[in-house]
Amino acid sequence: MTKLNAALPASLVLVGAGRMGAAMMQGWLAMGLPAASLTILDPVPAPDLAAACADRGVRLNPPLAEIAAPDVLVLAIKPQMLDTAAPGLAPLAGPDTLILSILAGKRIADLSGRFPAAGAIVRAMPNTPAAIGRGISGVAASPAVSERQRGFAAALLGAVGQVEWLADESLIDAVTAVSGSGPAYVFLLAESLARAGEAAGLPADLALRLARATVEGSGELMRQSPDVAPATLRQNVTSPGGTTAAALSVLMADDGLDPLMRDAVAAALRRAGELSG
Ligand SMILES: NC(=O)c1ccc[n+]([C@@H]2O[C@H](COP(=O)([O-])OP(=O)(O)OC[C@H]3O[C@@H](n4cnc5c(N)ncnc54)[C@H](OP(=O)(O)O)[C@@H]3O)[C@@H](O)[C@H]2O)c1
Repeated sequence: MTKLNAALPASLVLVGAGRMGAAMMQGWLAMGLPAASLTILDPVPAPDLAAACADRGVRLNPPLAEIAAPDVLVLAIKPQMLDTAAPGLAPLAGPDTLILSILAGKRIADLSGRFPAAGAIVRAMPNTPAAIGRGISGVAASPAVSERQRGFAAALLGAVGQVEWLADESLIDAVTAVSGSGPAYVFLLAESLARAGEAAGLPADLALRLARATVEGSGELMRQSPDVAPATLRQNVTSPGGTTAAALSVLMADDGLDPLMRDAVAAALRRAGELSG
């Protein structure tokens, strides 16, 4: 994680307060962003979001004409909504506005065409654990992004998890294939382990509880051992000739998990390339 000036922007407009947008908003307020500096735009806000805005004093859906160009305009709508939304939003971006986009598949060049007044664009790919403040984002910046604006992006994305700056925007597709889509691979691991437990004779509900707690606990153990390589954690629970070693001889065979995961990530990478045109 690159350490940057974590100064907060004085004004921030969030466009799209769905799962990701609402999680970010909660993270920003928890981090100390003054509610008065935040404006939310979402045509059909969820009732709990509207209540949270009223409760905290966050401006929700003021007329666009009343919004001054903010320090940061965060785009968190679905990518397919961009065509409809961008023309109305473009006048909000001034020459000093940073566009911070989490839209999957929307390149910096595409965004800069839609927000011509704003030269500074940061494109990020977060993942769903951001909803509990435990996401990780791969982040790329256009050349016009200043150190101060990098600090804004780092602080805003850092409120919902770790931030990894990328040397080149082209790496975002690979980030998408690893950490963007990755939570689904881990959930599948829990499902698959539960099914295998059932096949080994366990009642389905017990197999699911065992698999779920194993994935949760192992993830937490890894989190609490930041200086220990995953391979070492694995070796620590593998006695020579024991049961774990027997299972790992299957998972680590030449046709085991490694080639399967490589193929899966390659498929996601191809698809990310297709979707971003
Ligand atoms: N979820 C993830 O794991 C994940 C990971 C990485 C990146 N992303 C990116 O994050 C973005 C948001 O994803 P999400 O899962 O949070 O989607 P979401 O829950 O559907 O949130 C999008 C929100 O934007 C609102 N919206 C639609 N049109 C709008 C407009 N013109 N102006 C303002 N708000 C508008 C939607 O309202 P309605 O519901 O009324 O349409 C909804 O509340 C996507 O671009 C996605 O690619 C998501």
